[in-house]
Amino acid sequence: MFRRGAPGYARAVRLNPRLDTLPSYPTVVLDEKRAALLASGKRVFDFGTGDPTEPTPEFIRAQVAPAIPDNCRYPTVLGGAAVREAFCGWAHRRFGVSLNPATQVLPSSGSKEAVFHLPLLVVDPDAPDRTVVFPDPGYSVYHRGAVLAGGVPHPQRLAGDFKQRVWELPPEVLRQTRLVWINSPHNPTGAVLTRADLRRTWEVCREYDILLASDECYADTWFGEPPPSILEVAQEGVIAIFSLSKRSGMTGYRTGMIAGDPAWMRKLRELRVNPGLAPQDFVNAAAAAAWNDDAHADERRAIFKAKRDVMVAFLERAGLEIVASEASFYLWVRAPEGHTGQTYAERLLEAGIMTNPGSAFAVTDSADPYVRLALVPDVETCREACAAWEAVL
Ligand SMILES: Cc1ncc(COP(=O)(O)O)c(C=O)c1O
Repeated sequence: MFRRGAPGYARAVRLNPRLDTLPSYPTVVLDEKRAALLASGKRVFDFGTGDPTEPTPEFIRAQVAPAIPDNCRYPTVLGGAAVREAFCGWAHRRFGVSLNPATQVLPSSGSKEAVFHLPLLVVDPDAPDRTVVFPDPGYSVYHRGAVLAGGVPHPQRLAGDFKQRVWELPPEVLRQTRLVWINSPHNPTGAVLTRADLRRTWEVCREYDILLASDECYADTWFGEPPPSILEVAQEGVIAIFSLSKRSGMTGYRTGMIAGDPAWMRKLRELRVNPGLAPQDFVNAAAAAAWNDDAHADERRAIFKAKRDVMVAFLERAGLEIVASEASFYLWVRAPEGHTGQTYAERLLEAGIMTNPGSAFAVTDSADPYVRLALVPDVETCREACAAWEAVL
């Protein structure tokens, strides 16, 4: 044993051990697979990563350059009033809710960082009650954020219709819980919680004094009835997170919104000053234009619906079961007999069709035997993908 810095001391790479408890990030795995396929000269039908290819509308892009001043100074965590007011206008049109833009809303650099950082608001790594509940399968950042904040992750295993029923959690888990994540419309399954489900969830969280965090990043990507928001049900003890990534085709801008209970939002604002979580003002300018306009979101929804119709018709013809998949831009497909999600995703990959094995989104075995399709390729490419898929049926 050598003291650090003493002669002969071998410098070991010492890392945060919590990092090693996390599986590889799903999109990193996909990127490697895609690169290998392309290098082999194969055509790739990419239903893997949920990153839409339709261009960002011109009127949104046009906001950016004029909003860059000669001296581009530090942005603030609160951001300018325009983007917060634009978001509140959307929330009122979309859900009929009134939010105070001065006290209830903060912009985020995409919703992912907001999801990742939120446990820091409530998790005390030294306390026995530091559980973070999240849907499993689910967006993997709920788990990662909980672990790296020093919380105890509690994946709530979904099955059947893949709806998360927080009220079914055992009381001993709820007593230890500080934060519950819900996600409707849900990634990866597209399941939607009804207003009654949301109310029941909120009541449980209030009873146990738990912060209810609602990730509504697919709020504007629906095909039948528009999904309700937790904010319609209640705002006390609630933080909801929204995104322009899919609604407005702005994944690369990194722009989202956080909204909810003013008491929690005030504390969140203080927290977010520490790492400097403040989107650039010129991104906020583009975001304001996007939240102020619904026509482009309607158009994008129609595009996603056209792709979805092609894929659903094919999958049904092929006898493959589509489960949940009410909203969001994902299809949750049960692999045929004899396959796990992983083996079926690999089989499809042989035909150049990239999907995500359900297990990429799960900590438990809840996501087998499913694969997730993100409705990314355009309608024509979806048709061609169906022909390629036909060949491996
Ligand atoms: C459920 C869910 N939440 C949050 C995000 C993050 O989105 P963004 O950071 O692009 O706003 C995603 C991205 O795919 C998601 O699926």
